[in-house]
Amino acid sequence: KSARVSVPDLVARKGQEPIVCLTAYTAPMARMLDAHVDLLLVGDSLGMVLYGLDSTIPVTLDMMVQHGAAVCRGSKQALVVVDMPFGSYQESPAQAFASAARLMKETGCQAVKLEGGRAMAPTVEFLVARGIPVMGHIGLMPQSVNTMGGYRARGRGDSEAASVMNDAIAIAEAGAFSIVVEGVMEQLAEAITNRVTVPTIGIGASASCDGQVLVSEDILGLFAEFKPRFVKRYAELGSEIEDAAARYAADVRARRFPGPDNIFGAVKRPA
Ligand code: KIV
Ligand code: NA
Repeated sequence: KSARVSVPDLVARKGQEPIVCLTAYTAPMARMLDAHVDLLLVGDSLGMVLYGLDSTIPVTLDMMVQHGAAVCRGSKQALVVVDMPFGSYQESPAQAFASAARLMKETGCQAVKLEGGRAMAPTVEFLVARGIPVMGHIGLMPQSVNTMGGYRARGRGDSEAASVMNDAIAIAEAGAFSIVVEGVMEQLAEAITNRVTVPTIGIGASASCDGQVLVSEDILGLFAEFKPRFVKRYAELGSEIEDAAARYAADVRARRFPGPDNIFGAVKRPA
């Protein structure tokens, strides 16, 4: 099958096989992951993972446009979703539409994602009614780090759990085609998954979510600043890169590199 996974294809996966999602920010990463996932998310986590920022707050729409376009160029079968960055949608539904339209026109992505619960429901409805598929994102919302006072799991107490559940229901009823559920107690993630009719995609949530997402650099060992509990490492590429750099450096210093195969018109030298 050559066409991309579509939004309706993804929605139809609820209650079927789990939906596999990973983040991608660049064309080569998208090319490597494309055949293995249903959805590639161009997450605003790129602010921390690629740019060394200490939160996602400074990420701009221009950054998301450039990385979103690269991921679309590098993939051909996955559904590509691009994150709306902080400040590009919260002000009004009209502001959100202008930002989302720019992402779709300039990247070729099929959908956008935005963080927020009840307060964002009218915005989700506004976008969906105008042809823009929206993925929700509730629970731990990194763009709200300053109001939440840090990154911690949500839904520990009954009232907080009820609030996150109400956010999920509001976003689903507003027409989101899927909802990322981040950093919530497992029982709550399961209850949300049972309650809403669209697929839930968990991160630090529950294996009973309809799908899972993780940051690719986290599972690959390429972002080792810290390892949250919900990350599982599938490779240690960071230490492989350090090792490769060390071996290259040693070769250059010992004049072992470049060798005869790496140069043009090699001079014959006595052995
Ligand atoms: O920005 C991101 O990578 C995300 C996912 C981890 C859900 O929002
Ligand atoms: Na994000």
